[in-house]
Amino acid sequence: MYKIFKTVDEVAQYTAQRLLDKIQTKPEAVLGLATGGTMEPVYAQLEKGLRQHPMDLSRLTTFNLDEYIGLAPSHPQSYRYYMDQHLFDKLSLAQERVHLPDGMAEDRADACRAYSAAIQALGGLDLQLLGIGSNGHIGFNEPQTSFASRTHVVELSEQTRIDNGRFFADQREVPTHAITLGIQDILEAKDILLVITGRHKADIVAQLYHSGVDEALPASALKQHHNATIVLDSEAAALLPRQEVFNPKASVV
Ligand code: PGA
Repeated sequence: MYKIFKTVDEVAQYTAQRLLDKIQTKPEAVLGLATGGTMEPVYAQLEKGLRQHPMDLSRLTTFNLDEYIGLAPSHPQSYRYYMDQHLFDKLSLAQERVHLPDGMAEDRADACRAYSAAIQALGGLDLQLLGIGSNGHIGFNEPQTSFASRTHVVELSEQTRIDNGRFFADQREVPTHAITLGIQDILEAKDILLVITGRHKADIVAQLYHSGVDEALPASALKQHHNATIVLDSEAAALLPRQEVFNPKASVV
């Protein structure tokens, strides 16, 4: 299902409200979290919502989608650092219930297996938040990743390294590898929100809209999911057919 809003602010408010509703109805929920520029206003809204209506977060568990290999949590471009800055430092979450893939693990294969297993042991993700890369990746699942994948080590595509280079002082500092939750892990989430904003994402949104379920476009895996919502601002929706923009289908795409 597509949900299209005029502004980034409205997208952030809607997405944050979906997270708040989940926490309210299920205080022991397991949330799948994402990083990236798209999520910054979402987390700002979430924090604002929790300030206005405080909730008990002590039973909440979070698993982030991905982490760079070789960046320690203290590195300003690590996703752990991002999450601390944008969300975790502002909320009273139980630290032992906050999880990111370990980009510094010596035994990466074991760390990957343990990550997917930890999610399954808790009954799976109740809600997975996703952004999309300009090449259609979700998490760091680059084009041609198997839809049956579990948490794994990935070599980042050139496009992703260029896109993410904007956060680094020098393009050469962008790590070449990362650990990401697999597409099968993502598809097992009970509820999925794919959030996409900005004119620079309009092409990939149109490709996604017209695509079949195809491993060349990782986000198209969501078309197999019964509870996935694609949340767009008008800029990201700019190349969608007009009837979709003005009368979004209420069904799965
Ligand atoms: P962005 O990243 O929000 O910074 O565009 C999204 C992604 O690469 O998944």
